[in-house]
Amino acid sequence: MSLFKFAISKKDHESGARLGRLHTAHGWVDTPVFMAVGTQGTVKGMTPVQLREAGVGMVLGNTYHLMLRPTAELIAELGGLHRFMGWDGPILTDSGGFQVFSLADLTKRTDDGVTFRSHIDGAKHWLDAKRSMEVQRLLGSDVVMAFDDCTPYPSTREQTEASMRLTHRWADMSLDHFQGGQQALFGIVQGGMFPDLREESARVLCEKPFHGFAIGGLSVGESKDLMYPILRHTAPLLPDEKPRYLMGVGTPADLVNAVSVGVDMFDCVMPTRNARNGYAFTSEGAVSIKKAENKRSEKALDPACSCYTCKNFSRAYLNHVFKANEILSSVLMTYHNLAYYQDLMASMRAAIQEGRFAELKSRILSTYGAEDI
Ligand code: GUN
Ligand code: ZN
Repeated sequence: MSLFKFAISKKDHESGARLGRLHTAHGWVDTPVFMAVGTQGTVKGMTPVQLREAGVGMVLGNTYHLMLRPTAELIAELGGLHRFMGWDGPILTDSGGFQVFSLADLTKRTDDGVTFRSHIDGAKHWLDAKRSMEVQRLLGSDVVMAFDDCTPYPSTREQTEASMRLTHRWADMSLDHFQGGQQALFGIVQGGMFPDLREESARVLCEKPFHGFAIGGLSVGESKDLMYPILRHTAPLLPDEKPRYLMGVGTPADLVNAVSVGVDMFDCVMPTRNARNGYAFTSEGAVSIKKAENKRSEKALDPACSCYTCKNFSRAYLNHVFKANEILSSVLMTYHNLAYYQDLMASMRAAIQEGRFAELKSRILSTYGAEDI
């Protein structure tokens, strides 16, 4: 039986923001939640103990990467992804539908699935809804994503419509091959930048027995002026009582904006990838650690942050280890950025609980000089 459950405990009185709790076979997380990206069965540079310390409650893994290396079969043989990577909290796995199009060398695409060459060794593989469900079952993730077609940007209306229909077909095939047990299955709404196609996708998918719904196909190169109206239009079309997940988004400003229209779950490489490139998110806005002004700075990376990095190291030291290309630079910067994102989610939850979400949202938007949704 599925141990999956989603309960909303409070709704904001003026926005669409919701406070909730997501229960899985590997424990619960409070929502809105930000999942750290652990594509290859590791959140780059962080041990599971460090993830916990930074406040991470849920991790995302990738079907595409793990099926190629070390293979889903090997991970299953070794007790599943949780045991393999030493993370005992909830894990969501993406279905491969997105990564296969961005990373692999596609050889053939049909209405059933894709044949592709591995970006690692060029070997030929097949991926479809059935195989994606099988891989995610072998990995043993708590939340499985339906196999979908992420519509590229830009696409014509005709292309977007055809891609959306494929996603709907694959959603049915995902449901057919999903075995349940302790896992939950989420559907993915597509429809590109066309509001009426988003409506159709939400209508078609929300009739199906998914445990939750994702909004896919956003943050694929479009401007915020396009993404925000689509997000504002789509999120409220999803069932009120089920979790809503915005895939691959985003900046701190994107997160408060999306929470304000009713999104509950997020993942993005931004805090981890930017950290490795020397960029930090802080209560004072974005900080580039390599800048000359940090060379002699005794100041903490973020004076308002109480993470291990901010409590123990100066910007001068972080500037030095970054420039010297030391491994510790990635570790300390990632630690802070994840702690910052987790603190941000925790402040959003507290603000919803205490009826002051609007105030927090305007503070975050002004910190980053960002637009309101
Ligand atoms: N990650 C970011 N966007 C998407 C999407 O549209 N589909 C899937 N499967 N993963 C994503
Ligand atoms: Zn910090």
